[in-house]
Amino acid sequence: MLFQKSVQLRAALFGFLLLCAAAVQAQTAKLPNVTILATGGTIAGTGATSTTTVGYTAATVGVQALINAVPEISKVANVTGEQVFQIASENISNEEWLKLAKRVNVLLAQSNVDGIVITHGTDTLEETAYFLNLVVKSKKPVVVVGSMRPSTALSADGPINLYNAVRLAGDPAAAGRGVLVAMNDQIHAARDVTKANTTTADTFRTAELGMIGVIQGGKPFFYRDVTRKHTVDTEFDIAKLDALPQVDVAYAYANVGAVQVNALVAAGAKGLVHAGVGNGSLPAKTKPALIAAREKGVVIVRSSRVGQGIVARNGEANDDQLDFVVADTLSPQKARILLMLALTKTNSTKEIQRMFSTY
Ligand code: SIN
Repeated sequence: MLFQKSVQLRAALFGFLLLCAAAVQAQTAKLPNVTILATGGTIAGTGATSTTTVGYTAATVGVQALINAVPEISKVANVTGEQVFQIASENISNEEWLKLAKRVNVLLAQSNVDGIVITHGTDTLEETAYFLNLVVKSKKPVVVVGSMRPSTALSADGPINLYNAVRLAGDPAAAGRGVLVAMNDQIHAARDVTKANTTTADTFRTAELGMIGVIQGGKPFFYRDVTRKHTVDTEFDIAKLDALPQVDVAYAYANVGAVQVNALVAAGAKGLVHAGVGNGSLPAKTKPALIAAREKGVVIVRSSRVGQGIVARNGEANDDQLDFVVADTLSPQKARILLMLALTKTNSTKEIQRMFSTY
């Protein structure tokens, strides 16, 4: 009798445990599958002490350690991590952009991946985000995230930024909006965001056009749509590319000469972005060098170092006559990215101008 009761008790316990396991499995199955691609930066950085917030070493902590540091993530997503590279972002090359973008496209084509988070140094984060915005071929969420304080700092911003980025990448509301940047509880569109302060945690801003949403309590709230074409709606296909055409930026200042432009052309630039003053003005000593470069076949894009506003076509220069392109509202560093991709398709300035008005 006693033996029979004990067997019954054990069977009931076993059944209960099976039910619990099934419940946990069902719960895990319901969570979105998010892949974290780690590339380095301050979010993976370490300092000598907890108060070291400058003079630390970027790109030292591996992806699994980043994930382990935020156990809360496993409650909101099934996360896997891959270390794509481990660098400070000022060193990211065209080849690394291509490698990263190809990996994103392969992963997003899989039905068991719902979204991607890319951890990245903040210095060129906006450039990587815009590159991906133009070449990712999926509507699934892609979120680029970094931090301003290293992982060892007091009030490090990396863990909360990473948690928010995973929540965003796993949320269907983030799909179809292009590549997003999630920093400091804010959501920015890749095309328009820029790093605006050298050291503060609120450095990512979309000054005049505005952020597109916020993350509150881990939940994204969107308030604006992105109107420029991106991801699945672009004409750029990097699947077979292993290099990009050389495009450089020449920075203007009062009474700037021709040295930069001439040197960059001599070094093999196929395209040049003039980071002009004001409305993309052409200083008198630079203008002949740009004209000569264009005559040699180099595509010239007039942009502005101001940071806000449209560079008006045929405004400060007769672009039709000079056969120049204007950058619209793109910053010089983002104009460089679009020009590199444009040159993989065409040398026609008319076509390239259309692309600058589209993306
Ligand atoms: C970097 O861009 O890799 C270093 C700086 C940072 O991540 O904030």
